[in-house]
Amino acid sequence: MKAKEGVINILNKILTADLTAINQYFVHAKMCENWGYERLHHKVRERSIAEMKDADELIGHILYLEGVPNVQRMNTVQVGETVPEQLKLDLKAEQEMLALLSDGVVHCTKMTDFTTRHMFEDMAQDVDQHIDWIETQLETIKQVGLENYLAEQIKKES
Ligand SMILES: [Fe+2]
Ligand SMILES: [Fe+2]
Repeated sequence: MKAKEGVINILNKILTADLTAINQYFVHAKMCENWGYERLHHKVRERSIAEMKDADELIGHILYLEGVPNVQRMNTVQVGETVPEQLKLDLKAEQEMLALLSDGVVHCTKMTDFTTRHMFEDMAQDVDQHIDWIETQLETIKQVGLENYLAEQIKKES
């Protein structure tokens, strides 16, 4: 099926953001593991894998629309040196992703590409969950203090 005008371009932009996020979250997860924060390691690693599933879906959809998936391009991977820095950078990545997906939904509506639009809406729901989780962590740090928060991260998540 041939893509409507501009749709492949948006799909590739979102793919670039996802490929960047996969790497950023993966590095953050590894750093947490290295610091001994088992719970965080698992949670952040899970988020990296979720982005991988998005990339998988995006590449499949670009091919289905007879486009060329751009897997060479990547944005800057922003690595935080502390847990709060990591959370803030990941939050920024998710917010940027949400902006791209929102633009995508608007464009697909205009072009009457409802399949792609639905895909973007599903991905935006995941972004909402990711943002919610990160915001909860930042709020907990504010309330109980960083040391107490980090002490809880040593245990493996239930
Ligand atoms: Fe994603
Ligand atoms: Fe995400």
